[in-house]
Amino acid sequence: MKKWIQQRAAAFHRPTQEMRAFYNRIHRLYWFVERHIRPGLQQVLLSLDDQLDMQNAPTVLEYCCGSGLLSQQLSPRFTHVTARDISEKMLTRARRLSKGLTNITFETGNLLNITDADNAFDFAFISFGLHLFGPDDRKQILKELMRVTRREVIIIEHLPKWELKVALVEWWEGSHYTDFISTEWRRVADDLNANFSKQIIGGTQVQIWRRR
Ligand SMILES: C[S@@+](CC[C@H](N)C(=O)[O-])C[C@H]1O[C@@H](n2cnc3c(N)ncnc32)[C@H](O)[C@@H]1O
Repeated sequence: MKKWIQQRAAAFHRPTQEMRAFYNRIHRLYWFVERHIRPGLQQVLLSLDDQLDMQNAPTVLEYCCGSGLLSQQLSPRFTHVTARDISEKMLTRARRLSKGLTNITFETGNLLNITDADNAFDFAFISFGLHLFGPDDRKQILKELMRVTRREVIIIEHLPKWELKVALVEWWEGSHYTDFISTEWRRVADDLNANFSKQIIGGTQVQIWRRR
């Protein structure tokens, strides 16, 4: 049964506009996901505080910001947070939940079409978003994020293991998690001429990318 679900999860992918429609449909259920991932994100940021000199960095770009869970963690650490998502409904939820955090700009943006200038931001982040994309898109996304970022690009994702719960969510979401967890990231880093490290923090995997 688990194998059957995994096979379907691995085969079913939503293209960009369908992914947008999917998140526009499910935004009201996202409170459940928020409850599940909020503590892990808080731990990740505390750990990154010790590893990266973020306090002296004024700007951060976040993609796939969803309902703004990570944006709210970034807000006290940076002078300005630019948080983008393709789903208008998720952005509306993010604005509502982040009321009072005046240094965050939530705006519509497609991760597959980044038009910012080179080095426009100090850091870039994506939490639980890169696994939505296939291998070629992932590589292009990382390349583009490193182009617009002076410092590190941080990718936060689910743990690299196959649980039934994860398989069901992947199937429902139509993401590329199966090949995400089997990706040879060192090879991708070499292709992109980038430095790459990976660690496990707070029940998540955290990748740190930087142009060589
Ligand atoms: C699993 S949610 C993660 C949300 C948030 N980062 C978090 O940690 O809760 C994935 C988000 O990616 C957004 N997304 C999907 N495809 C996108 C694209 N091409 N460009 C920008 N955002 C996209 C979805 O709308 C959704 O809000």
